[in-house]
Amino acid sequence: MASTELPFQLSDESLGQLDCLVDGKSVAARSGKRFDVIDPGSGKVWAACPDCSDEDVDAAVQSCHKAFLEYAKWTPRRRSQTLSKWHHLIAEAKEDLARILVHETGKPLAEAYGEIDYALTFSWWFVGEAERAHGNSIVSAVPGRRAITIKQPVGVAAALVPWNFPVALSLRKMAAALAAGCAMVVKPSPESPVTVLALARLALRAGFPPGALNVLTTSLDGTPAVAEALCLHPLVRKVTFTGSTRVGKIISGLCARNLKKSTLELGGNCPFIVFDDANLEQAMGQLMALKWRHAGQACISSNRLYVQRGVHDRLVEELVARTSKLKVGHGMAEGTTMGPVTTPRSLDKAEDMAKDALAKGAKMVLGNGMRMDNNNNNTGGSGGGGYFMEPTVMTGVTDDMLMSGDEIFAPLLGVSVFDSEDEVVARANNTSMGLASYVFTKDVDRMWRMFEKLEAGMIGLNTGNSSSAEAPFGGIKESGAGKESGKDVAIEEFLVTKSGTLTVEGHW
Ligand SMILES: *[C@@H]1O[C@H](CO)[C@@H](O)[C@H](O)[C@H]1NC(C)=O
Ligand SMILES: *[C@@H]1O[C@H](CO)[C@@H](O)[C@H](O)[C@H]1NC(C)=O
Ligand SMILES: *[C@@H]1O[C@H](CO)[C@@H](O)[C@H](O)[C@H]1NC(C)=O
Ligand SMILES: *[C@@H]1O[C@H](CO)[C@@H](O)[C@H](O)[C@H]1NC(C)=O
Repeated sequence: MASTELPFQLSDESLGQLDCLVDGKSVAARSGKRFDVIDPGSGKVWAACPDCSDEDVDAAVQSCHKAFLEYAKWTPRRRSQTLSKWHHLIAEAKEDLARILVHETGKPLAEAYGEIDYALTFSWWFVGEAERAHGNSIVSAVPGRRAITIKQPVGVAAALVPWNFPVALSLRKMAAALAAGCAMVVKPSPESPVTVLALARLALRAGFPPGALNVLTTSLDGTPAVAEALCLHPLVRKVTFTGSTRVGKIISGLCARNLKKSTLELGGNCPFIVFDDANLEQAMGQLMALKWRHAGQACISSNRLYVQRGVHDRLVEELVARTSKLKVGHGMAEGTTMGPVTTPRSLDKAEDMAKDALAKGAKMVLGNGMRMDNNNNNTGGSGGGGYFMEPTVMTGVTDDMLMSGDEIFAPLLGVSVFDSEDEVVARANNTSMGLASYVFTKDVDRMWRMFEKLEAGMIGLNTGNSSSAEAPFGGIKESGAGKESGKDVAIEEFLVTKSGTLTVEGHW
């Protein structure tokens, strides 16, 4: 399918190219097969990308390796300048990228712009990091000896990126790798390959060498084999993955076979805790933005809402009032404030969770926890086929319900009541996950205690918006390992530290 057949207009048509990018060239899968990309807002196919298999991996990695041998010699300043050029090209392509993003993910156009702005904070951050990855000089304990360290790029890296924030999460990986002097093969999700292809084509235009950034697309069925071939390829020295904990464990196991470095950004089950002494207005505003953004499909979304008894009823009332104003529809439709979920699998899971909660005694206070009738008019006038669920709020949710034990990833929210600080800490921590937690209180002592006690890699203190390029992003426990932003730590994931020891004769 050529770009001119896209169901929407792009001002730069080359950004709608659907073939893989390898060695600076557009290539198809060896098998010639393609897979369909579906608009979650209509259920309709709008593009088809190469369905690569493991037999396509070697050529892409070899091309990366060849590019790496040259690119690693670039000065950090030149890398930084080229990253800056790329950053500006992405900013200029914002409108086109946003339109593609809506059709891949289903999110409303305003959220698509929000994601691209967020993504640009990472490309900008790594413009700076490229020139600041330095080694040390070390004072030796032994007379006549000096030690120094240098940082070198680890080599070819592979990135496996998810569909919920394909622009931001792929750019965060690609920019870090290129800043470090690595070349990278990227495998986008089958739901969202086109934005990632567009970013890579812009990188080429910015002046990165052909092969420094290769993109291999593949279907859901093709994904395990391509991912495995990338993880096991001898020339791939580093793998960075964002996705589920289940798949993260597989990726980590594949990397472990050859002792490869991996960065894993996995599932969350994030508690959002509101104490009686919170500023309710502030907590509500943050909760609305955090929970309903992208129809609940973010790993850092509020998954368990714990509200102290004294403010519970007021909060629920306000939550229902505000949530009922959301306008569900196609992401491109005027006035839409919540889109569909991206895959029908998400609806199956959310329906099961809502049914389970009802059976165990929870109460439905808004919505019905079921997929919407595809023929009603809320689906942006598309006339059916989209993956929609009305935002659903349930109260009386307890920790033994499925929705408390696992990521929801859909517009379903359960409210649990709690009494004491100790109780809520124990309940909030009682999960294998540890990505993010959110606390709302105006008691500064309590805030500090919560900050230290909650087991998560990122704690929002009176905010639901705690991810930024300048602070380290990453989970603990089964939410992953490694950091993807922040000073030094993120670029470090793509570097090796080499020690040099020098004997100095004729000197103390
Ligand atoms: C959908 O919209 C059409 C035209 O505006 C109208 O005739 C029809 O009754 C609507 N259907 C529903 C289910 O609301
Ligand atoms: C967090 O809760 C868990 C499980 O309830 C508990 O084991 C752990 O000690 C708690 N952490 C702190 C710092 O209180
Ligand atoms: C932790 O969860 C388990 C079930 O998953 C439950 O049996 C246990 O009581 C919980 N502990 C706390 C402190 O909530
Ligand atoms: C988070 O904060 C940033 C910076 O203030 C803002 O641009 C963005 O819209 C916020 N995101 C949400 C979901 O509130």
